[in-house]
Amino acid sequence: MNTAPGAQVARALTAKGELLDPAWHRTVLAVPREAFVPETVWVRTHREGLTVFAPYPRTDADVSRWIHQDYALMTQVDDGEPAGPDGTGIVPTSSISQPSLVVAMLQALDADDGDRILEIGTGPGYNLALLCERFGGDRIVSVEVDTGVAEQARRTLAELGYKPTIITGDGAAEVPDHGPFDHVLATVAAKDVPPAWLEQVRPGGRIVAPWGPGFTSAALLRLVVGEDGAAHGRLLRDAAFMWLRDQRRAVDSWRDHIDEATSGTTSGEAALNPRVVSDPDPGWGVVLGHLVPGLVAHVAEAAEGLLDAVGEATVRLYDRAGSWALAEYTPAGPPYETLCCGPRDLWQEVAAARAVWERAGRPGRDRLGVTVHPDGRQEVWADTPENALTV
Ligand SMILES: C[S@@+](CC[C@H](N)C(=O)[O-])C[C@H]1O[C@@H](n2cnc3c(N)ncnc32)[C@H](O)[C@@H]1O
Repeated sequence: MNTAPGAQVARALTAKGELLDPAWHRTVLAVPREAFVPETVWVRTHREGLTVFAPYPRTDADVSRWIHQDYALMTQVDDGEPAGPDGTGIVPTSSISQPSLVVAMLQALDADDGDRILEIGTGPGYNLALLCERFGGDRIVSVEVDTGVAEQARRTLAELGYKPTIITGDGAAEVPDHGPFDHVLATVAAKDVPPAWLEQVRPGGRIVAPWGPGFTSAALLRLVVGEDGAAHGRLLRDAAFMWLRDQRRAVDSWRDHIDEATSGTTSGEAALNPRVVSDPDPGWGVVLGHLVPGLVAHVAEAAEGLLDAVGEATVRLYDRAGSWALAEYTPAGPPYETLCCGPRDLWQEVAAARAVWERAGRPGRDRLGVTVHPDGRQEVWADTPENALTV
């Protein structure tokens, strides 16, 4: 029987075909994931009609199993102050990431022995331990925004004999006195890639991060920094992660933003099927979020049993900055009645984004790439960086 500290996790990953690099296989075998699990983990459940995260002791039979399997474990909610009913949490704010995703990110980074790596989002420190095990703690700097999380990670890593530099602070800013680095690995998602990441990486170095405009969950982005300081790269796979603290979206409802009784609304008609906002194509989700910044959509199906409304839906859009719109979908087809309010015409913006995506041949996420300029400007392109998708 294999008694290596990470044997069970490694087996869970090899069974899924996820550990393809033997050097990372050896690394996963060497690191005990259970050492990073705190006394309490937070498990998604439902209370009072809300999705919340309930506290479970790490000794719980299910949790004890999940520790050695390919699951993420939520280790903090609401920045350490659970804000839900009955001691539950609303927003997970730190976690031990899913091992298959951790390994996919490490393999995508493609770092060499001797490289210096900046990790953003230390969390409990499992990924950091893998980096230390493989490259040595003296090559790794990690930044964690939450003081308590950073302190716990320092303790756990020291107990296991790893000695990276862990900085408490905002990983979106430059890390003074430690750069430049060969690569940046973010285990927290960015809507806007911070320019400091580009500035701190040498030309040819990689930035691997969960990224997305925020309309859908993040995808794994692998950027290569060029001589001119810009970085280009492709979207590799799903990578649903929590967002950088300053880039989080509020937890709210359309009711906080849409009031149909307000004055100043404009009614009209749209030719585009409003249900396109829930087209599940991941490439469309990226393009829509990029071209209609801040967009949030909510589709309310007509209640079951309303015989004269079968298949109908009210589709609501808002941007949290004073613009909103709704459209009434009916299977009878266009035109669809619309109502808009605020400085932006969100239906017009969605229609323009859809036209751009269709003209580009409806690229799936595997055809999409991203360029980040040194000033932070981001472009999304199809197939090559010259093919930027713009309205
Ligand atoms: C998904 S967890 C990290 C997972 C972890 N690296 C692991 O080994 O599994 C994301 C972490 O990023 C941290 N974080 C969020 N915003 C940050 C920021 N601006 N700078 C640094 N850390 C941040 C959170 O506090 C959280 O601990």
